[in-house]
Amino acid sequence: MKLNDYITFASRPSVYAPGTSTMWDDEYISKQLLAVHLNPDIDLASRKPSTIISTLQWLEKIVLKAGSAILDLGCGPGLYTEYLAEQGYNVTGVDISAHSIGYAQESAQKKGLGITYRTMDYLDLKDRDAFDLILMIFTDFGVLVPKAREKVLANIYRALKPGGVFCFDFLNDSFPIAEEGNREWEICNGDFWKKGPYLLLQEKQFYPEQNVCLSQHIVVEDNGETSIYRFWTHAFKHHHIRELVEKHGFTGCDFHENILPNCQFYSSDDISFCLAVKQERTGK
Ligand SMILES: C[S@@+](CC[C@H](N)C(=O)[O-])C[C@H]1O[C@@H](n2cnc3c(N)ncnc32)[C@H](O)[C@@H]1O
Repeated sequence: MKLNDYITFASRPSVYAPGTSTMWDDEYISKQLLAVHLNPDIDLASRKPSTIISTLQWLEKIVLKAGSAILDLGCGPGLYTEYLAEQGYNVTGVDISAHSIGYAQESAQKKGLGITYRTMDYLDLKDRDAFDLILMIFTDFGVLVPKAREKVLANIYRALKPGGVFCFDFLNDSFPIAEEGNREWEICNGDFWKKGPYLLLQEKQFYPEQNVCLSQHIVVEDNGETSIYRFWTHAFKHHHIRELVEKHGFTGCDFHENILPNCQFYSSDDISFCLAVKQERTGK
């Protein structure tokens, strides 16, 4: 271990500087994540089944029509897509984790559900005028860095039919993001990040100008190999979200509160849902 490297790692990274490794598509970590998604007792990676169903029933009441075409971005193992397919909608799920999509495909086949799944990065989405509703659930919008956020919003706008709706949840300004900040370490004999032994150095740092909190996880393996995972979590005021989506052409933008009663991870008050509408085609 070269301590000089750790002096560099321990200094404050410039805002949005990427890590060296990614988590969701990592062959080993994605297996641990799948187990977390599928644990019905915790609100991590995916929310609990009762919360998922109440969220989708709320959406059915306010936006869905019979036969709607729905795209779930970051669908994980298909917990939302399966419920929607069971209600008769035409459903597509996209996720970067081959492991989650493999599970979702097998599960849909066993249940006789005709869901289309794609293993891909949603930054590469190319669809045009294809969906009535696009979902991005579990505050995933807020972990996109600005450049990726712009790309994803452009992709979603293009992929929606005129009159279609983009539904996403985000941490709002009740969430005490500025209070984040700590450093801790752990030593494990194989666990979430790696199969073999590793030292884990974790920290959170707040960047006030961008209202973003960095969660950094530095994983040092027995052979000295080091992986740095960085997650940039934003909290937004409603007017900021409105500006972001309107810049991409969305015309209507409604906010909905307290959609997630009894959530363990983030309180219901801290999460708002946004429904952003692509304008209907005008003219004769
Ligand atoms: C917090 S989980 C939420 C999963 C699902 N929406 C749910 O609530 O059950 C985030 C999901 O987004 C996926 N993901 C992350 N970045 C992605 C990207 N760039 N393209 C496609 N999927 C991505 C991850 O693999 C993971 O399944």
